Amino acid sequence: MSDILVHTEAGVMTLTFNRLDKKNSITRAMYAELADALVKAEQDGAVRAVLIQGDATIFSAGNDIGDFLDAPPSTPDSPVFRFLHGIATFPKPIVAAVCGPAVGIGTTMLFHCDLVYAGDNAAFSMPFVNLGLCPEAASSLLVPQMLGYHRAAEALLLGEPFMAEAALEVGLVNRVVPPTEANAIAQAQARKLAAKPLTALIETKRLMKKSQQSAVLERMGEEGQSFGRMLREPAAREAFTAFMEKRRPDFSKI
Ligand code: COA
Repeated sequence: MSDILVHTEAGVMTLTFNRLDKKNSITRAMYAELADALVKAEQDGAVRAVLIQGDATIFSAGNDIGDFLDAPPSTPDSPVFRFLHGIATFPKPIVAAVCGPAVGIGTTMLFHCDLVYAGDNAAFSMPFVNLGLCPEAASSLLVPQMLGYHRAAEALLLGEPFMAEAALEVGLVNRVVPPTEANAIAQAQARKLAAKPLTALIETKRLMKKSQQSAVLERMGEEGQSFGRMLREPAAREAFTAFMEKRRPDFSKI
């Protein structure tokens, strides 16, 4: 079975992370599937909203760290950058259901979703610095905007996780719900959106995003260049190798 399940029903294309043995970490192949699904969802008149979900225990452990070591993305058409560009420019509504850990891109992708429902076990983290990396997905712009600078610095410089209630307080999530109900609640909200006039949804989303869109894409490009370079530098290599060897990283000589 694929690591990304794609199912369309009642106007909602549901994308489910399905790599539970690796905590739904996202490989290049999965980014490619997600990017392709978003293109199809945009073009297909029968799709009026998209839902992204994991399961009740885990949303996503972020980028697959083995892939970061073996095949780091290098060009703007790499699957991860195609996915990020796709989600940041997707014209129809996107809903997310998040339970358990949402690490790295598992959190940053949510800044490009329109509605987010979180299980009370959701834990959001962006540990880029701990991995010798910098933010991606325009999170260096969007996180300070939403959290305020000092809370953003805790999240992005210290890489400290924050829980569902804190995410609700800053407005990253719409509602905190029991984990076993999150996917169903998000599905119901997506279906409510799908029943509305699509042209009105698209125009409203476009107008709400308009003042930020070019700044988001510009920042994403700048972050992507730094991120791509830093993936190959000693700090990141040490962090990834340490993760694979199940030990603490040693940055003392870096
Ligand atoms: N890439 C590749 N494999 C990953 C992974 C990732 N990002 N996250 C987890 N896995 C794998 C583990 O290596 C382990 O594989 P194994 O069973 O073959 O040893 C399996 O998934 C289970 O992970 P484990 O760490 O034992 O689960 P946990 O419940 O104790 O912790 C997390 C879950 C998400 C908190 C933890 O796995 C984690 O921190 N992952 C790394 C997150 C990260 O740094 N992502 C990159 C962000 S840019």
